[in-house]
Amino acid sequence: MMSRQTASSLILPELVEVIRSALHGVVLTGAGISAESGIPTFRDAQTGLWAKYSPEELASPQAFRRNPKLVWEWYAWRRELVAQAKPNPGHLALAELERRMPRFTLITQNVDGLHQRAGSYNVVELHGNLNRVKCFEEGDIVTSWPPGPEVPPRCPRCGGHLRPDVVWFGETLPPQALRAAFEAAQRCDLFFAIGTSGLVQPAASLPYEALRRGMPVVEINPDETPLTQSATYALAGPAGQILPELLNRLNYKNYKE
Ligand code: OAD
Repeated sequence: MMSRQTASSLILPELVEVIRSALHGVVLTGAGISAESGIPTFRDAQTGLWAKYSPEELASPQAFRRNPKLVWEWYAWRRELVAQAKPNPGHLALAELERRMPRFTLITQNVDGLHQRAGSYNVVELHGNLNRVKCFEEGDIVTSWPPGPEVPPRCPRCGGHLRPDVVWFGETLPPQALRAAFEAAQRCDLFFAIGTSGLVQPAASLPYEALRRGMPVVEINPDETPLTQSATYALAGPAGQILPELLNRLNYKNYKE
């Protein structure tokens, strides 16, 4: 575990001032922000029951067509993990940052809803949400279906299979969320990329929208990513430690850790 002193030494006084004077902060998060809540990231090796599959083999329309039961059960397992997890100090610090900044947009690739549970308000979900279900055939959101043994359950309207309302490989992103994300990245005066490997488009190009306009980009990630070299500030450490320390340095202390 990183010491508080180490976390603090990564944060330059200049960065503290940049954050303090920002008018519109945009944050892009990926699976890494939820890692400290016990939710495995996509590029971590899977464990236990799921060790023999890669997420790419499970998170696609082809995979669902091939084996809808397997894919539904993987998501049921992830939903259960998320239900038992709690937002960590990183999520809570971002909710507090939103309360402190004049404008704030949190764009997430995560489908776990932990940002909202931490109190974040203006959240753009680029990849959907695990807790919503839609019809695989017609795409309509479905909120209830008759109980029964069949897995996955069937759409009460058309009888098609039900699936989670998340974006799978090979699918397009929800257009409204995508528009909101790019607009925010094109208007912000400060951008954070937190806990994302920066390998999946179009989310990976959002920080470059800010860089192109000369705006500061802060990366928080213990590992190097394709963005690290271009980032204005690269803070190499876990978000659950760096973000609370950042708030301390800003004297934003009234949030619960
Ligand atoms: P990845 O699993 O690709 O990357 C997670 C990133 O988080 C890595 O760069 C880690 O170094 C970093 N990380 C791990 N622990 C961290 C911590 N405590 N604090 C900060 N960073 C940490 O996850 P994403 O970038 O979110 O898409 O993946 C992007 C998309 O690819 C996902 O939304 C999903 C996936 O396939 C779809 O399902 C469409």
